[in-house]
Amino acid sequence: MSSYIRKETPGNTEWFVHDRFGMFIHFGLYSMPARHEWIKTFEEIDDEKYDKYFKFFNPDLFDAKEWAKKAREAGMKYAVLTTKHHEGFCLFDSQYTDYKITNTPFGRDLVKEYVEAFRAEGIKIGFYYSLIDWHHPEFPIDGIHPFRNKDYAEAMDKGRDVRKYAEYMRNQVEELLTNYGKIDILWFDFSYANKEPESVLPGAKPAKPWMQHNGWKGKDEWESEKLISLIRKINPEIIINNRLGIPQDTVTPEQSQPDSWRRDEVTGEYLTWEVCHTFSGSWGYNRDEMTWKSPEMLIESLVKTVAYGGNLIMNVGPTSRGTFDSRANKALDVYADWMKYNSRSIYGCTMAEPEFIAPPATVLTQKEDGSRLYVHLFSYPFKALTLKNAADKIQYAQILNDGSEILYKINEDNSVTFNLPIISPQKIVPVIEIFLK
Ligand code: GLC
Repeated sequence: MSSYIRKETPGNTEWFVHDRFGMFIHFGLYSMPARHEWIKTFEEIDDEKYDKYFKFFNPDLFDAKEWAKKAREAGMKYAVLTTKHHEGFCLFDSQYTDYKITNTPFGRDLVKEYVEAFRAEGIKIGFYYSLIDWHHPEFPIDGIHPFRNKDYAEAMDKGRDVRKYAEYMRNQVEELLTNYGKIDILWFDFSYANKEPESVLPGAKPAKPWMQHNGWKGKDEWESEKLISLIRKINPEIIINNRLGIPQDTVTPEQSQPDSWRRDEVTGEYLTWEVCHTFSGSWGYNRDEMTWKSPEMLIESLVKTVAYGGNLIMNVGPTSRGTFDSRANKALDVYADWMKYNSRSIYGCTMAEPEFIAPPATVLTQKEDGSRLYVHLFSYPFKALTLKNAADKIQYAQILNDGSEILYKINEDNSVTFNLPIISPQKIVPVIEIFLK
């Protein structure tokens, strides 16, 4: 068994740390301007102008089954869809707002179709729900709100009551948890109490005197405690992330690659974590964004995440027609091709035991039960690769993608030297699978 003791979580994270890999989906009205999901506030667009997206939203090519199939083929075992993002638009048929998908030309409850299709593929179901809401009439205008610099903002903000907004969130979360069967993950986004305005929104100015709560919001404004207890009452097992401002099941670093396993500061126990990444820079579909990650980077981020005991959730931002664009499909195919043959080094794996030291340009993972060790080769070592402290434990070794035996030599210092084929058997990140005693 792995010697890393994971801190107990309120929800059931057993399946989660086994499955390791999920699909994030950011879909909303912002898919139409196709210039980032924060467009409404980046460009300080007022409601009247933003309304054109609502009026014309019609993802006519949307087919939940196609999305689900893509996710399964890529090896993704769970998915998290934006049921509502910061713009406030709901992809589900909520009785608490008119600002919802069933009132657009599209007219269907997309969340329902997503749940059914992904469940049918055996994929666990997650809902992203934005705590920030730039449309709700009770959401106090603050320093990152699209109206922050408008002449009418102060007058408009008068009388807004964040408690009413918190109640709206509880009502909607209750709908999400009761109208779609058993949900596995709730992914909230996000709290920004006590943060520097600049760190949340580049160019943002400090809050104006009339802005309530210093302009910034966190667990007190969201009434996170109440929300969490409502959720746990409906579904005690559900996984809740940390962005309500109260630690729950997971910690969620974003767009960067952690190089260690975060631990509880008091007990030293290892935390359950999930990093989220995009294929390119933005979460919502961004037509002109060109910094797409290379195939090597895509595999690297998955392997490095598992190597530190974490999960990766990789994001797709569908186009406003409701499809994954060719670049997203290509990136998903990279995972599909690699995972088909190498997923054994990902599922049920975690950080390798400390006695195993990764040789240069390699990354290790190990089965949770200790039975197998995986060496991921990020720079092909030509012929020989030596692994320390393994001679007394090794039983057999093979290249994972084709199951072909690797001969090896036992050295006096308890290291093992593998005799690799001179040409790599696989283009991107080949893996050595070692059966341990
Ligand atoms: C952020 C952004 C956002 C995205 C999220 C995903 O904090 O606000 O647009 O949905 O990260 O982690």
